[in-house]
Parts: sequence; C-alpha cells; structure tokens
Amino acid sequence: MDKLIIKGGKKLKGDVTVSGSKNASLPIFVATILAPGINQISNVPFLRDINTTIKVLESLGAHVEGNGNIVKIDTTGINSHEATYDLVKTMRASVLVLGPLLARFGKARVSLPGGCAIGARPINLHLKGLQALGAEITLEHGYVEARCRQLKGARINFDVSTVGGTEHLMMAAATAKGETLLENAAREPEIVDLALYLNRMGAKIEGAGTDTIRIQGVSELAAADYEVMPDRIEAGTFMIAAAMTGGEIRIHRMKLEHLDALSFKMQDAGVEITSRDGVVMVKGPRRVKSVNIKTRPYPGFPTDMQAQFMAMMCVADGASVISENIFENRFMHVSELQRFGADITVEGSTATVKGVKKLSGAPVMATDLRASASLILAGLTAEGTTEVTRIYHLDRGYESIEKKFAALGADIVRVKE
Ligand code: EPU
Repeated sequence: MDKLIIKGGKKLKGDVTVSGSKNASLPIFVATILAPGINQISNVPFLRDINTTIKVLESLGAHVEGNGNIVKIDTTGINSHEATYDLVKTMRASVLVLGPLLARFGKARVSLPGGCAIGARPINLHLKGLQALGAEITLEHGYVEARCRQLKGARINFDVSTVGGTEHLMMAAATAKGETLLENAAREPEIVDLALYLNRMGAKIEGAGTDTIRIQGVSELAAADYEVMPDRIEAGTFMIAAAMTGGEIRIHRMKLEHLDALSFKMQDAGVEITSRDGVVMVKGPRRVKSVNIKTRPYPGFPTDMQAQFMAMMCVADGASVISENIFENRFMHVSELQRFGADITVEGSTATVKGVKKLSGAPVMATDLRASASLILAGLTAEGTTEVTRIYHLDRGYESIEKKFAALGADIVRVKE
C-alpha cells in the first residue's frame, strides 16, 4: 500500500490545472447504458472510481477503451442486467445502473449498496421514484429486482434534496412515456452536466440546475460524445491549499461560478480570489481569519469541501463553528486533525474549531476521500513531517494530487509502505 510523506511549511506558488469531474463522469458513464452505440467521453479523470464504473459497464457486456483522458464506451453488446454486490460495495454510485437498465431492457437486478463511512446513505428515494414511474420493485437477498413493461412519466417530489436520486430519475424518465416532473430536485452542477449529455443523446430535459426538472419522454436515445465539466471539489481543494499556506496560485480550467459558497467564505477569511480570462488566482493572507460554515445542498456550502475547510480553520485566527447537515457521520477527520495539534470539539453535527498558530506534522490515517484531502492540507502547513496512510481513499477521487501539489512547490512524495 502507498503512503504520502509531506514536509510542511512551503508556500504554494504557480499554476495548476483542474481535472475532469469525478461526480459528473460517473452518472454520464452510467447513462451510456440507455442506448446502444459508441459514446466518446472526454476530460475523464484517471481515478479508481472511474475504473470501477468501467468494470461495472464491462460486466454488463459493454466494450470500453481508454486513451488518455478520453474513454470510448460501446454499449451495443450489453446483455446482462445485473450489478453484483462486489462492484456496488466498492462504489455506491454503481447503483445508478438500475434505472438505465430498466429503461432500456425492462428489467434489472442490482445489489443494495449498504452503509458508508460518512453515513447510512439509503437509496429509498431512488426506489420510490422508480416505482412512481411504474417499476415493480422487490428486495431479495440483498438485491433490488426491478421490472417494467414501459416506464411512464410521473410527478415526483423529493423529501430531501438528493444528487444521486435526481440523476437516477432523470436517466430513467428520459425514455418514459409522457412527461416527468422532478420537484425539490437537487441543483448541483453535475446534474446539469448529466442533463446536457442526455439532451445530446436526444432527451428532452429542461430545468436542470433548478429545483424543478421537466422531462418529456422520447421514444429512443442515441449514443453521443461529451466533454465532462471540471471537478469543482478538486478546484476548491487547491484554493484552500493556496490560502492555508499563504501562497499564491493560478488555477486553470476551473469554473469559479460552481464554487460561489466556498469563495465567499474564503473571502470572509481574508483570502484574495480573482478571475481573469478563465484563470482563477488565489492568494492567501499571512493568517486566515475564522469563519463559520453550514453545509447545504447546492448552491449552499458543499459537504464535499467541509473537511478541507475545517483543516484551514485549524490554523485560523479565532474560533469557527462548522455544521454538517448532509451526512450524519462526516467528522471522521476530526480525530486525525487533532493528531496535528488542532483544537476541535464536536457535539452532534457541529464542530467548534479554535485556530492554533501552528500544526505539527504527525502520522495520520485517511478514512474517506475528502477526509484524506484535509489531512494533506494540514500536512502542507504543519511543522515537520506528516505521513498519510490508507491513501487508496484519495485515489478514488483526486487525479495525481501529489504530483500537482509538488508542481506547486510542496514537498510531498508517494512511497510504497
Ligand atoms: N438520501 C436519502 N435517501 C435517498 C438518497 C439520499 O435519505 O434515497 C440522503 C442521504 O443519506 C444524504 C442526503 O440525502 O443524507 C444527500 O445525499 P445525496 O443523494 O445527495 O448524495 P449522493 O448522491 O449519494 C453525491 C456525491 C457525494 C456528495 C453528495 C452530496 C456522487 C457520486 N457522490 O452523493 O460525493 O457528498 O452527492 O453532495 O456524486 C464525494 O465525492 O466525496 C462524495 C461523497
């Protein structure tokens, strides 16, 4: 197993380019199931979760070829309708194949994903929505079995804002008979990206990015080519790295408008953020100021940036209150950040972080994807050496992160344990 060794204290400087979005690529890959043909998806990041999605598609009978950041997916030969436990437990997003398989073949059998390190993460709203579209659903031996003659448009009102649920039903409804209305839909940019791809395939989807999405079912879709949006969480992680180290970096290929909630909070913390000709410049102050955050569905503060923001607050001037409102167990990085000397107390879904002047490097363990990023950020600012183990979590969602940080002047290397 690999680990990262970081010698902290370097101010980050220079240019970095953001990779394609993981959380947009995954549903787009899955949506290729909806029609037979060859899709060319570009700006795909090299990640473990992408490999897992490719394995899922191959296990269904698709033929997938990668060339750099371009992936060709031929879905003509899909002849299986089952996603097994082995694959779904490795990556929960695999469960999204249920709707597209059902829409194209009228049947699907997909393992239930089970719990997750950051929360229970049920898929009840996905299943309820598919039932509203006319699917017959049974749960047996840990698998969801779904059947239908033809999905039919329906009005679906989500109890809570769900990114995966909105994506799942948008895909399933694309070829349903009649109109589907998704109300209280999630508004994340990744949903807009999926809708753009589906429309490229011939779907008629309006309103993605708002809380009401109208889908006029079409009789069939066709394979299409698409370029995935940039990864807003990777971009946000670099913004925080620059701010925390008192550095100055230019970030290329990011969409600042996807990160308004984060940018406003960073500006409140004293960070300079400017955008010119599509390049975002981030300059950290000598010491950031403390700021409170509450995670919310988009356009609120993203839960996927909470751990990294907390790392920054660990060295801020003052105390900050951080509330996590999306997942019930997303504070696992706290006890690892405390190993750097951070002063954090947690009560329920709220963490109070009292900024300290200096963190000190320590051996720490990654527990989930974004928690891993927060440990790297702490290590980049800490005095002395930090060793981050279990970085396979990191490889799920950040493309060559240590190489990108090293190119910005950080002292960080990956070694085999
Ligand atoms: N929820 C339900 N029932 C459902 C679906 C969701 O109660 O049927 C609850 C969840 O338990 C959670 C909340 O609704 O409390 C929001 O979950 P959501 O469905 O929006 O999350 P997701 O689709 O499973 C995606 C991202 C996550 C990101 C969340 C929130 C992907 C592949 N994953 O998950 O990304 O944190 O949206 O923005 O898009 C990550 O990249 O590190 C990551 C965890």
